[in-house]
Parts: sequence; structure tokens; C-alpha cells
Amino acid sequence: MTAYVLAHLSDPHLAPLPQPSARELMGKRVLGYLNWTRNRHAFHQRDVLNALIADVTAQRPDHIAITGDLVNISLDAEFRQAAKWLGSVGPPEHVSLVPGNHDAYVPQMHDRFASEWADYLRGDKATPGSSVTFPYVQRRGPLALIGLSTAVPTLPFMATGQLGAAQLAALEQTLAGISPDEAFRVILIHHPLDTDGKRRHKRLRDADELTAILRRRGAELVLHGHDHRHATLWVDGISGKIPVVGVPSASAADDGKHDPAAYNLFAITRESDHWRCDMRVRSALKNGTWKNVRQTRLI
Ligand SMILES: [Fe+2]
Repeated sequence: MTAYVLAHLSDPHLAPLPQPSARELMGKRVLGYLNWTRNRHAFHQRDVLNALIADVTAQRPDHIAITGDLVNISLDAEFRQAAKWLGSVGPPEHVSLVPGNHDAYVPQMHDRFASEWADYLRGDKATPGSSVTFPYVQRRGPLALIGLSTAVPTLPFMATGQLGAAQLAALEQTLAGISPDEAFRVILIHHPLDTDGKRRHKRLRDADELTAILRRRGAELVLHGHDHRHATLWVDGISGKIPVVGVPSASAADDGKHDPAAYNLFAITRESDHWRCDMRVRSALKNGTWKNVRQTRLI
């Protein structure tokens, strides 16, 4: 039986950063702009991202999941640039997206992602032109892709995320309504479920509530970004542990200090009465060629 292959990448932080107008450069954006011009522009490179996408395309996955932070300081021009980039990655039938904290960087832009990238954020049951709601469910092959939004504006120096009570309740209902025998349930979320003490200012504020829902209802795989590093965590589900997998930024240059750009491929097959999921990590070697740098069976 041929496996269904899902590619997961995150945090492209698209460069170049368009020049903000004086009106746009206020509040938290001032810090974000300085951070970009002093540090981040050297780390998030468009060439690196282009090479990653070229490799994803060459691998011909059945579907692509992107877990947020397409933009940097939520400028108008960044959203338009990101919409164009999304189109170059693939059409909405082939690409699922959830937003990150940088996609709702300031209060006045808290829902801009929902209008600019709507086609990639709508569930199968939503009518064209309707507003975006979370969680969404997109059925693709054997997958039920369940997209969550943790993107909320925060104060300067904070990068926390929040699902909120309404989204958590809707997620519980959604998971309860999809049998694991019927679909391989993949949850897409920007923030990770665990955050150490040093990164409390970046945590998902209602991670405990989400973990409790997973324990009650189960899921087959959780994919996230945000930390810009490889991570695999196991949380309790109904009938075993659920893998929670994070990837580095898709545009990360190899600076010797952080995880360089990488993405993961998940090969999903149904074996008699259970799912099997094998993960391959793909990253660039020093000579610029992309290779499998790690392979492992998750479930
Ligand atoms: Fe990010």
C-alpha cells in the first residue's frame, strides 16, 4: 500500500522586510523592526527558504502543512508578499496553514491573516467567501487536518499564544466527531505544548487545557513551529502516546548556533487496524544539497 506523504514546514519569516511607513512604525513594531534590521535579517534568508521549497516540491508530497509566522511585524505589504509566496508553494487544496504570533503582531492587524490568506485557512465545510473560524477541518486523502489559531497580539517582549475557551471547546467536539479508524487526525498549531521556564514569555497559555483534551479525545499527530528548533514530545492520548513534532524555521541560515532550516516528511499508512507514521527529517548539507538527515518510525 502506498503511503500518503505530508510535508511540514514552519516559520518562514519571509524576507525581505518591506520598508514600513512612519505611520506603521509604532508600538511593538519599533522593537520588531530594530530586531529584524540588527539580527534577524541575517538569519532568515529568502535563498534558504527558496532552496527548501524547491526540495519539498522535488519530493512530491501529497500535502503540505505550514504552521505560521509567514511575516515578521504584520505590515500590510508583508501580508501581500506572503499571499504571493503561498501561491507559489501550492494551491489551497494542496497546502494547509495556521497562523503564528508574528502574523498577529499588533492589535490593529490581529485578524489580517484571516482575510489575506483565507483560502488556506478554511475548513471543507466553509462556503467560499465566509469568514475563517478555528478549528477548521480539511480532509485530504486519509488525513483530517485540524487547524488551530494561537495567534493573538501580545505586549512587547512577549510571544505567548492562546487558543481560548471557545476554540478549545470546539476542538474537543471536532476530535470527538472524527473516529481514529476513519481518519489520521493531524493537529496543526503554531505554539508548542511544552515550554521551559526560560521561555515562559513565548509559551502557549492554555497548553494544559489542550493537553487534557488530547488525553480525553486522542489525535494521531500534532505539528508545531514557533521555537525554531527540532523537537519531539510525546503526550498521552486514549490508546497510547501522541507524537508532538516541531521543526526549525524554514528560512534559517546555518549560523552554528541555531537549528538550520529543515522540514519533515510524514509517510502515513493504514496497517490492518492501526496507523503507521514514519518521519523523515530533510535538511541541507554544507554543499547545499538536501538530504534525509534522520528517519524514524513515530507510530
Ligand atoms: Fe517564528
